Amino acid sequence: MCGIIGYAGKNQAAPFILDGLARLEYRGYDSAGVAVVGPDGNLKIEKSKGRLQVLRNKTEDGKLVKGCVGIGHTRWATHGEPSDINAHPHISMNGKAALVHNGIIENYIDLKKILSENGYTFKSDTDTEVVANMLDFYYNGNPLETIRKVIKMLRGSYTLVIIFEGITDKIYSVRKNTPLIAGLGETGNFVASDIAALVSHTQNMYLLEDDEITEVSAEKVSVYDIDLNLIKKEIFKVDWDVKSAEKEGYDHFMLKEIHEQPRAVRDTISSRIGESNEIILDNINLDYEYLKNVERIYILGCGSAYYVGVAAKYAIEKSCGIPVEVDLASEFRYRFGENTRKMNPNFKGASRGSRINKNTLVILISQSGETADTIAALREVKKHGARTLSIVNVVGSTIARESDDVIYTRAGQEVAVASTKALTSQLSVAFLLAEYIARKLGFAGDFALIDALKKIPEQIEELNKSENKIESYAKEFKSAKVAFFLGRGIDYPVALEGALKLKEISYVHAEAYAAGELKHGPISLIEDGTLVIAVATQDDLYEKMISNIQEVKSRGARVLIITNEGNTSAEEAGDMVYYIPKTHEILTPLLSVIPLQQFGYYSAVARGCDVDKPRNLAKSVVVE
Ligand code: F6R
Repeated sequence: MCGIIGYAGKNQAAPFILDGLARLEYRGYDSAGVAVVGPDGNLKIEKSKGRLQVLRNKTEDGKLVKGCVGIGHTRWATHGEPSDINAHPHISMNGKAALVHNGIIENYIDLKKILSENGYTFKSDTDTEVVANMLDFYYNGNPLETIRKVIKMLRGSYTLVIIFEGITDKIYSVRKNTPLIAGLGETGNFVASDIAALVSHTQNMYLLEDDEITEVSAEKVSVYDIDLNLIKKEIFKVDWDVKSAEKEGYDHFMLKEIHEQPRAVRDTISSRIGESNEIILDNINLDYEYLKNVERIYILGCGSAYYVGVAAKYAIEKSCGIPVEVDLASEFRYRFGENTRKMNPNFKGASRGSRINKNTLVILISQSGETADTIAALREVKKHGARTLSIVNVVGSTIARESDDVIYTRAGQEVAVASTKALTSQLSVAFLLAEYIARKLGFAGDFALIDALKKIPEQIEELNKSENKIESYAKEFKSAKVAFFLGRGIDYPVALEGALKLKEISYVHAEAYAAGELKHGPISLIEDGTLVIAVATQDDLYEKMISNIQEVKSRGARVLIITNEGNTSAEEAGDMVYYIPKTHEILTPLLSVIPLQQFGYYSAVARGCDVDKPRNLAKSVVVE
């Protein structure tokens, strides 16, 4: 999604901005731009479709765009195709204001009509240019008052960073439902959509909230509420390692992050397991008194985070016996949103809406902590009185801040669009949490599970060492047009994740099925040479999986089986077998997903795809 950075300082702004935008490239974009207030007070803009390098060449790395305050943007198109004209920043018709925007202005058509009636014309197809002209139309010489007036008329989501003609020492910003942080530097101050853009300049940040308006100069960052009262913000110290944004010798961030998983999982679990295998989740507040009344747990997320939820459902139901529903955050928010019919006062049974109440625990899973649908679902369930617990990677992100409790994964910054180390870290937390809840409820602890969890990092290391086997399979199937992934029980979410990894970066049409579903339709797609990857790690389901594998094989499929060491009968059933080391059966996703990540990665490489920046995708999906 769009990346934003703004700078006000003592140095030239454009080189800082281009450097910050480079650190945001991982989010996915189609065009980039920069604008400054020149020493003469005029606004100067350069922007272009394509990679940031095009903009770098055009501006000689920013040297041609002179001014000490400026704003920059990488765009992920929503309104209007990727083009030079639709790229941000956008300047108002009379040249009074220029801005960059992340999000969507939902009522831009109505606002455009008002502006057109007042003589404004538009060059681009974007909703953003409408905001630039709104600022121009209402400008009264006081930027803060003008911004306040304009945002009261906007509907939707936005991070806006704005510069004004004639104001050579300040930039302004505001957010609503999309992220924005301010960075306190030595030679100037910043705002950005993402901590990653700023960590090389400063560790001191302000986490900005919705409707807070900031005025940033070289000396200070002033934050105002919607009524323009000055607010005192606490400094938030970011402890990210700058190295996490470097490839450190790997060809791609995705490969680096696959290899970082032993460290990521170790960091995530080590301080949470005590010497006698007790589980230490100090800062969460789930005690017996609360848990004994929990009637249902919902787990919500999007994409890979949702698949972690599906695996967590198996773990929690098995260990705690509490019914768990997993839902895509984008669907759930409308299932239980305000449009759910209100309870009929004459009806004495339970209403659908009342299924969420104080005895509902809602677990939200998100790497970025900024996914728009997950945030909306979180806010919705809070309205119904549910208790919320999030599993989040980015410290201080919106989901982390707004949940009642948060457990941070300690994966470090994940740069590649395709999630890998965040997913295994989330799985580790989910399995720890299942065990934690079970013990709080008075069940005997499964100490063997915790012993096995402690061994997972070194087992992943082993799997990383044997990646050339998977690389050779990926090369062999590099021309496959379609692939099917099968699994039963907790292997099913792994199959889902394997299919997503393959499709999102290699553009192979990949589908995952619960293997029992095959005969209900999908098996008609199997023909000679179709690639099927079957995950079969669950002892009680192994024979059933082997039967399903026979069914696709007898229709011509070529089958790769991912199974546990010792399951040698797989050699007969499949064409290729990949063994994962023995672990507790609940924990197998932490190991079986590794070859599938490798398969996705090496397939993309074999096909010549841009692994870290897959087409049409963004790292953090901050619009619905
Ligand atoms: C897939 C992937 C996405 C994310 C999804 C949720 O590799 O990265 O499917 O898992 O967009 O993002 P977060 O976890 O940031 O909420």
